[in-house]
Amino acid sequence: MIVIFLAMIACVIAGGQLGPMTGNYDFNTSNPFASASSPDPRPGAGDGAAAMDPFQMAMKKGASGYAVCGGCHQGNGMGIPGQFPPLAGSEWVTGGTERLVRVVQHGLVGAITVKGQGYNTPGGMMAFGAAMSAGDLANVLTYIRNTWGNEATMITKEMVEKVRSVETRTAQWTAPELEKFAAANVPGDIPAGPGAAAPAEAK
Ligand code: HEC
Repeated sequence: MIVIFLAMIACVIAGGQLGPMTGNYDFNTSNPFASASSPDPRPGAGDGAAAMDPFQMAMKKGASGYAVCGGCHQGNGMGIPGQFPPLAGSEWVTGGTERLVRVVQHGLVGAITVKGQGYNTPGGMMAFGAAMSAGDLANVLTYIRNTWGNEATMITKEMVEKVRSVETRTAQWTAPELEKFAAANVPGDIPAGPGAAAPAEAK
C-alpha cells in the first residue's frame, strides 16, 4: 500500500515538474482547477499525458495535425491518383529530412515523381510554414513518417527551427531544386519508436 501511495505522489510531482520543462505537456498555468496540491479534475486531464514518451506524444499530436493534409493526401495516406501524390510509401516522406521539412514549410509546385508515378497538379501544394508552429509541423512530419507502414526517424521542433533559420525562401520549391536535399538529414534526428527518445536525451 505505502509503496503504491509513494509512487502516486512521485507521479504527481514528476508530472508537474516534467510537463512545463519538456513543453510536451500542454500545461495551462492559468487553469483555475490546477494547483500543486490538487490535480486538474477535468476528464482526461493529466491522464496518460505525463506517461507518454516524446515519440508517442508527437504521434498523437501529429495525427490530429494531419487533418490539414488529409483533405488532399487522404486519411489513408494514399492521395488521389493523378491529383494528389501518396504519402504512404513515399520516398519523399521517409527520405532525407532536409527535403521533407522544406516541402511542407514552403510548398512544392511543378512536375514531381512519387513511387514511380508522375504528378503535376496546377498550383502544386501551398506552404504551411507560416500557418504552423515548428512544433506542430514536426509532429505532423513524425506522424506521416511513421504511419501506413512508413518507418523513419522522428522530426523534432528543433530540426524544423534549424531549417527555418537557414532557409529564407518564400516561393514554393520545385522538385529539381530539392534534389540536392533528397538524402540529406537535418542534424539532430532521433530514431522513432516508443522510448527511443529517452536514451538520446540521456546522452
Ligand atoms: C490542397 C491540397 C494539399 C494539401 C492540403 C497538402 N498537400 Fe501535400 N501535396 C499536394 C500536391 C498537389 C503535391 C504535389 C506537388 C507537385 O506536384 O509539385 C503535394 C506533395 C507533397 C509531398 C511530396 C510528395 C509526396 O507525396 O510524398 C509531401 C511530403 C506532402 N505533400 C506533404 C504534405 C503534408 C505533411 C501536408 C499537411 C501539412 C500536405 N502535404 C498538405 C497537395 C496538398
